[in-house]
Amino acid sequence: MRAALATVGVLCAAAAAGAVEIPRLVTRDGRHALFVDGAPFLVLGAQVNNSSAWPAALPQVWPAVEQMQANTVSVPIAWEQIEPVEGRFDFSFLDTLLQQARQRELRLILLWFATWKNNGPAYAPEWVKLDDARFPRVVTKDGARLNSLSPHAPATLDADRKAFVAFLRHLREVDVQRTVIAIQVQNEPGTYGSVRDYSPRAEALFNQTVPAALLAKLGKPAGNWTQVFGADAEEFFHAWSVAHFIGQVAAAGKAEYALPLYVNAALRDPFTPGKPGQYASGGPTDNVLDVYRAAAPAIDVLAPDIYMRESAKYLRVLDLYARPDNPLFVAETGNDRAYARYFFEVVGRQAIGFVPFGIDFTGYSNFPLGARATDASMVEPFAANYRLLAPFARVWARLSFEGRVWGAAQPDDDADRRLDLGRWIADVSWNKWQFGSKEWLRTVEAPAREYRDGGLVVAQLGPDEFLVTGRNVRIAFEAGPVHGKVGGTQYARVEEGRYDAAGAWVFERVWNGDQTDYGLNFTTRPQLLRVRLATY
Ligand code: DGJ
Repeated sequence: MRAALATVGVLCAAAAAGAVEIPRLVTRDGRHALFVDGAPFLVLGAQVNNSSAWPAALPQVWPAVEQMQANTVSVPIAWEQIEPVEGRFDFSFLDTLLQQARQRELRLILLWFATWKNNGPAYAPEWVKLDDARFPRVVTKDGARLNSLSPHAPATLDADRKAFVAFLRHLREVDVQRTVIAIQVQNEPGTYGSVRDYSPRAEALFNQTVPAALLAKLGKPAGNWTQVFGADAEEFFHAWSVAHFIGQVAAAGKAEYALPLYVNAALRDPFTPGKPGQYASGGPTDNVLDVYRAAAPAIDVLAPDIYMRESAKYLRVLDLYARPDNPLFVAETGNDRAYARYFFEVVGRQAIGFVPFGIDFTGYSNFPLGARATDASMVEPFAANYRLLAPFARVWARLSFEGRVWGAAQPDDDADRRLDLGRWIADVSWNKWQFGSKEWLRTVEAPAREYRDGGLVVAQLGPDEFLVTGRNVRIAFEAGPVHGKVGGTQYARVEEGRYDAAGAWVFERVWNGDQTDYGLNFTTRPQLLRVRLATY
């Protein structure tokens, strides 16, 4: 009897495994979606601090995640933690994490901290990071050794790959529920302090012909690195080498369990980049995205980690990484309140997710990169925005994949923003009261805001119908040129409502009169509008 029950159990598990589709990235007509449980999913993420991936720290993680209303938590899985002794694996933390995440109905993104964690091997096991002969470091032009492992050492690739494969094999076996929706392969790879490795092995490779896959991707004729890339040769060579290493680790893991895989980037300044080595040379910076695409086809996404508070820089980075061949995924961003507004810009660019870093209550602050606060006040600005989207995140993800969406965040100069919605134009503005036209407001003091937190998102529902939500923002509409000469623009109907759990619209009331005479004004109250436009 016991044996029979055990068989039934196995069959049920198999049926469950078959029933729940593996998360995957889908690209159609240049638009991207992360499919989870068979439908587009928007990652409303939170990443824990680096040293919070231990059972003892988890009680300080969950309350912050809950306050944030995140649906996904990004958590490191360190090589040193799963393979402290070569060939002997310990997945006890991973199992604990899976169980606790499931109890809270959260999804996970796991971060493979291995050969590269911000340039160095700090998270590699001691048997790796203390054995310089077997796992050599990058050598500079002057012969100095850096704290960055060489991407050219077969032993390092072999050991990292074996561990990653064991990790994904275990995950495939224990995660039939698909709690884990993506894996980050390494963390901010690349090298500080040298554009590339100058070890004898690297030198030999540098003088060979550029790999055919890269030449084909860039449409360049054959030659060695210097002949093909001139002044960029050393950087592109290192980028290829690091990416090719990561690509092989990723491909082997994917063969075991085909989860979406991505690499995150320590960025270079998008306007004044400086020199490779001053920024992480060999990482997926904006100038080598094509190199990564050619070298690491098993990697689905190249994702920026954005710690630039300035709106011009932030938006430029988003534009550089949102490409028809690369889904936008903000794998990390600062947890200071100045960053919270960019959520609207990210989501409005059809991103698959947004993940502020350092979201837990372990008391660590990475100020000045992120917030000084480590308590609930650090989480709240992000929670406020997630509160707007979380109730209909699945609907949003579908609209973003199938149709058109837009977003805007209050910029540093508070300039108005015009969004071209096709048949209609939206005029988005900040620092307004709910009542009153632009002209009168000049004589009235603007509402006091503690910091710039304005933003909104718009999704198209039909030719003349839009879904809008936002925070501390005004939106007004005008007929686009396609309408020709018209008397003016009017609202056919503005409904406030919500989506129910099945994704059906639930009408609550109509906005009219004062609520629409001066544009549609969002405050700190979560409100969702369906707007139908017309001309007269
Ligand atoms: C970016 C890294 O990817 C994170 O792991 C972390 O070290 C932050 N920088 C700084 O807090």
